[in-house]
Amino acid sequence: MSVRAEIKRLTTRDIRALARSGEKIAMLTAYDHVMAGLLDQAGVEIVLVGDSLGNVVLGHETTLPVTLDDMIRHTSAVYRGTTRAMVVCDLPFGTAKDPETALSSAIAVLQQTGCQAVKIEGGGAAAPMVARLVAQGIPVMGHIGLTPQSVHQLGGYYRHGKDVPAAQELIAAARELQDAGAFAIVLEFIVPEVAAEITQLLDIPTIGIGSGPDCAGQVLVINDLIGLNVRPAPGFTKPKADVAGIIRKAVGEYVAEVKAHPAAKAKEPAVG
Ligand code: KIV
Repeated sequence: MSVRAEIKRLTTRDIRALARSGEKIAMLTAYDHVMAGLLDQAGVEIVLVGDSLGNVVLGHETTLPVTLDDMIRHTSAVYRGTTRAMVVCDLPFGTAKDPETALSSAIAVLQQTGCQAVKIEGGGAAAPMVARLVAQGIPVMGHIGLTPQSVHQLGGYYRHGKDVPAAQELIAAARELQDAGAFAIVLEFIVPEVAAEITQLLDIPTIGIGSGPDCAGQVLVINDLIGLNVRPAPGFTKPKADVAGIIRKAVGEYVAEVKAHPAAKAKEPAVG
């Protein structure tokens, strides 16, 4: 059997083909081997190892403290948990600040994790980084709208594209990223009508999060989807399960069982 025939993992070509056929693309985040395996088995096409790792798994207030080593460790685990899904790794804060830094970060990620693509946050300013990686054969997903790595500049987490200049800026950014060679673009927390217009205008697929139903695909943070959080999830997610509740109940029963078993009497210490 040829090596080619054994490759079953979805590629950027499959993702483009899906979008062209009109079938929506299902993407979710994962940060570890078990969760990635479950998403893969359930038919998710793209597993994103988002730098939301920082908030969701590592307990930081923002994504800014996440390092390239953090992303590499978790992306390797996710890749090992999947056989079919395309795996995309976020380049964390500061690791795509110019084209050469972005290239060395992306090379480290692809070589050390096995994943197939990276995601870079930012509008038109990110286009030179996207172009540099694409010229080296590295697929890049763009990310515009709410870009959490820029939270301090943005001044918070809010919906984007609310007025005409803001909408035009998003449309221009999406076009620049497409022209730079991005294979898809995440549209995060953008006014749904603007996200729909961007989706219409582009040839590459858009993947929406909190941006309405008309994107070519959808992405969510897995913990928000399944209700596995100790902090409140963003308002636009409607959890489909209460995994945190299941865990609290199971652990509560375990604690009660442990405590109900009669304790062996502790020996009196020998005197003298
Ligand atoms: O870091 C992340 O999880 C993301 C998704 C929300 C798109 O960038």
